Amino acid sequence: MARTHKQSASSASSNRSFVDPPAQAADNAWVRDWRALEEEALGDPQGYWARRAEELEWSAPWHTVLDDTEAPFYRWFVGARTNIVSSAVDRHLGTARKNKLALIWVGEDTSQVRTFSYFALGREVERMANILKAMGVGKGDVVTIYLPRIPEVVFTMLACAKIGAIHSVVFAGYSSEALTARIDDSESTVVVTADGSWVNGRVFPLKDIIDEAVRFSPTVHNVIVVRNTGSEVTMDPIRDHWYHELCKMPVAKGRCETLQLDAEDPLFILYTSGSTGQPKAVLHSHGGYMVGTYVTLHDCFDIHDEDRWWCTSDPGWITGHSYLVYGPLLCGATAFMYEGNPTYPYPDRWWDLIERYGITSFYTAPTAIRTLMRFGEAWVRRHDLSSLRLLGSVGEPLNPEAWAWFHQVVGQERCPIIDTWWQTETGMFQITTVPSMPMKPGAAGRPVFGQEAAVVDEDGNEVPDGVEGNLVLRHPWPSMMRTLYRDPQRYVSTYWEKYPGLYHTGDSARRDADGWFWIIGRTDDIIKVSGHRLGTAEVESALVSHPSVVEAAAVGLPHEVKGHAVHVSVVLLPGTEPTRRLEAELREHVAATLSPIAKPDSFDFPESLPKTRSGKILRRVLRARALGQDEGDLTTLDAD
Ligand code: WTA
Repeated sequence: MARTHKQSASSASSNRSFVDPPAQAADNAWVRDWRALEEEALGDPQGYWARRAEELEWSAPWHTVLDDTEAPFYRWFVGARTNIVSSAVDRHLGTARKNKLALIWVGEDTSQVRTFSYFALGREVERMANILKAMGVGKGDVVTIYLPRIPEVVFTMLACAKIGAIHSVVFAGYSSEALTARIDDSESTVVVTADGSWVNGRVFPLKDIIDEAVRFSPTVHNVIVVRNTGSEVTMDPIRDHWYHELCKMPVAKGRCETLQLDAEDPLFILYTSGSTGQPKAVLHSHGGYMVGTYVTLHDCFDIHDEDRWWCTSDPGWITGHSYLVYGPLLCGATAFMYEGNPTYPYPDRWWDLIERYGITSFYTAPTAIRTLMRFGEAWVRRHDLSSLRLLGSVGEPLNPEAWAWFHQVVGQERCPIIDTWWQTETGMFQITTVPSMPMKPGAAGRPVFGQEAAVVDEDGNEVPDGVEGNLVLRHPWPSMMRTLYRDPQRYVSTYWEKYPGLYHTGDSARRDADGWFWIIGRTDDIIKVSGHRLGTAEVESALVSHPSVVEAAAVGLPHEVKGHAVHVSVVLLPGTEPTRRLEAELREHVAATLSPIAKPDSFDFPESLPKTRSGKILRRVLRARALGQDEGDLTTLDAD
């Protein structure tokens, strides 16, 4: 699609929009002279990454930092042996951190609190690892995890890693069909779930959904069920096992060694939406992923031993993987995890928890900030948030208004805001700031140390500063995805074919004259709805599975709070009336077949969908219609 390049005066040049970092944040930061470090790392990216990697545990050294002979199948720390658990848990046990809190967990019912020292976490992980081993799980096997935000999700992810199994966490808001597709595709033999999860005071029936999902599964032999809500569930006497009962069995007890692996051995797959067809399984590996997540969290969020770090993401997303589970533990930090939502029962739940637990660093998403902002300052002001020293954001552009509110009302102008741009595929931040850098409200920042980004046109030529174009990354980085699980061809064609030698992000952006990047949004058929990544194809296939629907197309429309909202154009079977009731039914149908997060926000019911002569749906036209705008010159449709 030919994109028009728009010049933006506000972001093209001037320094006016800089906000200087608060002096105290800058003075105490790990990275003070960021310009020097940026230059040094870019002068020798491999040397930089190798030096940083040495801060972690390796049982055998690498002989080559980066092997690019089979690019884009890059390999990092070649020849080295390691296991991410050796650095995330084991190494702390030989230090004073052994008795430091690794995890503080608070339930939706906030009287439920569970805390784990690094020692206790190590024991929990061993227990789960012993159980998985006893079920026959070994190196390279995939375990599907369908758990709410409770400590067991951390134990299970680490237990898989410890024994060399590959975890596949599926967000516990996906429905049974989406879950079946992911379980079958990965051929998991074991699924770990809970009886239910708490969502705004009600139970979401996870176990029922699992029952539905694995009923005809050819591969799943064992389902481990964590008791969480205490709700009644049906247990299959052969397939299903209560976790608390397994824990009492002799096999669960005793030590479990952390298996040393090749640095390139897979750590996890995570299904994420693509622009076409089925979700794709992004694969990350032990060595590089641990280096990338450790270094970025350490430097960008300036993690010190006394910090209490709260990342509000769910472990079902990449942010939860990298910066709720692995990153903080690799840094030896204390991570905070909360089961519930920010607005239940009142919209000060998060502020209350920050006050009560002395959170120092708080990482969340623009959609949450905008939601809470609408409830007004008073909810924030009634809490003492003086423990906070850093704030962060991820998932979509943080618009200047939300930035200002976060900065002034939540951070009381004391806390730098670290806006981190990255993706499931990148594993770690790619464009962001460190606390000593000046900030620009609305811009993500600069490429991380060792990385260079560029904005290019359709032919791969760099566009001038201030002009919108396609965002690409120039250098490989340790925590880059290694491939799409069992689909290496799609890995190459999606990310590396369009611009040979450059990583194609799928985002459009501008760089300003100071070198700060302003992210605009996706250029493909991915929609970010409340920060969740949805493929239009997934929503469409959910809709056409309804008996009244002949054809459907989904597009994203700008939305004040959610960033984007899902709008669908639905062609109905002849004779079907497009009533409000049918709309409600279709919404529920999408929730039940895909996920409640994908429910369409608005509908239209045309008699047919506008298409090119080759049959491609013209989303541009649908979007314009929905927004009441000019549909454009229809004679050029075939060029779209
Ligand atoms: C978007 C989330 C603007 C972007 C970690 C990207 C952002 C997609 C930002 C990846 C940000 C993420 N500013 N846009 N700070 N962070 N995005 O895989 O469009 O769920 O390509 O990873 O989110 O979404 P994913």
